Amino acid sequence: MFEGRKIVLGITGSIAAYKAALLARLLVKAGAEVKVVMTSSALDFITPLTMSTLTGNPVHHQFSKADEGTWTNHVELGLWADLMVIAPLSANTISKLANGTCDNLLLAVYLSARCPVFLAPAMDLDMFAHEGTQHNLNLLQSRGNRIIEPETGLLASGLSGKGRMAEPEVIVSKLSEHFETGTRFKGKKVMITAGPTHEPIDPVRFIGNHSSGKMGYALAEVFANRGADVHLISGPVNIKIKNPQIRVTRVTTADEMNMVCLDDFANTDITLLAAAVADYKPENVASEKIKKTGDNLTLKLMKTPDIAAGLGKQKKNKQILAGFALETEHEVSNAIQKLERKNFDFIVLNSLKDAGAGFGFDTNKVQIINREGKIFPYELKGKSDVATDIVQYIEANFNV
Ligand code: PMT
Repeated sequence: MFEGRKIVLGITGSIAAYKAALLARLLVKAGAEVKVVMTSSALDFITPLTMSTLTGNPVHHQFSKADEGTWTNHVELGLWADLMVIAPLSANTISKLANGTCDNLLLAVYLSARCPVFLAPAMDLDMFAHEGTQHNLNLLQSRGNRIIEPETGLLASGLSGKGRMAEPEVIVSKLSEHFETGTRFKGKKVMITAGPTHEPIDPVRFIGNHSSGKMGYALAEVFANRGADVHLISGPVNIKIKNPQIRVTRVTTADEMNMVCLDDFANTDITLLAAAVADYKPENVASEKIKKTGDNLTLKLMKTPDIAAGLGKQKKNKQILAGFALETEHEVSNAIQKLERKNFDFIVLNSLKDAGAGFGFDTNKVQIINREGKIFPYELKGKSDVATDIVQYIEANFNV
């Protein structure tokens, strides 16, 4: 699985750095080429000589060697890698990754990397449980980084709890799983809608909703990481995509989203509609800013196209079409009605009644409902993990 794979192994300052030696050894033994980048704190725990001997490659830990007049090309290292894993990852570096800080070589390589990044935190239990650390990890996860959860056990402080870096064998099996699934959807065309639509009222105002796009973008990442060619049709959101397997078309209104979807649908194998499309738009868009004239203002609204229902009508047998239902009451019956009306193969229900689910959050809690009305419930988890559950549901239930 690792034959010919190029892996950047980042090491930060933690007592668990000694396990990085075994990790490098296992990866090299399995056929990977490993290049190590260390922070200066990591040097207190393990020597570059150990790591360079194990990997057969020079170890990098500084931007430049002024005395030799040379510098380390972090961009080249970032682009070279098929995968980057930071193990162990300290609370300090987690915070820097989350904030886009770039005050050492490892951070510069991370910011330049276009490949999947795996993070294996290691710290004391209270540091790991701290709201700040958890917030940063959720943020990193929502950006597509994979977190390899630390284990529970005896810690260097003498305390016992969650914070021990995952064992090197566990990390290797996660990376191997990644390479194995990396081709699962090769050659498949996947279309995903994400985010809200904005329906203009006048040049400065619009009708919109709170969708952040996180759910749809997470789905796009998971499919792309499994080798699919993804077309992400996104309403106005603030998320950047680095994955070259994902082509993004940015739209503003429901009409624009509809046109792009209709145009591409015949070519797609799998379509997932995670966008929160406005159901109504102003019948007339004022060409100048509407002035405040009286106590009331009446806007006449008209229906937007139901993108999902339109695609449902065109759907061929071999195509998979699924959507989301965001409900506030009678959740299951409403979702089933939508599934039938829009000719979905399954629907993903999220309810605003569940804490941490729906709009904006980094987490979601969903139930998948199939055409027979069977319900598959899932726990509250990060949107990236929810996306993985949905993709695994497709793998398990459809012939793809
Ligand atoms: O973006 P996030 O902040 O991460 O939040 C994610 C989410 C809550 C937006 C997402 O998980 C979700 O539930 N998306 C669908 C929200 C929605 O509009 O649901 P709906 O019940 O109104 O629509 C049902 C389905 O029809 C959806 O797949 C929707 O994309 C689609 N639809 C709806 C209206 C319309 N005019 N055209 C459509 O295609």
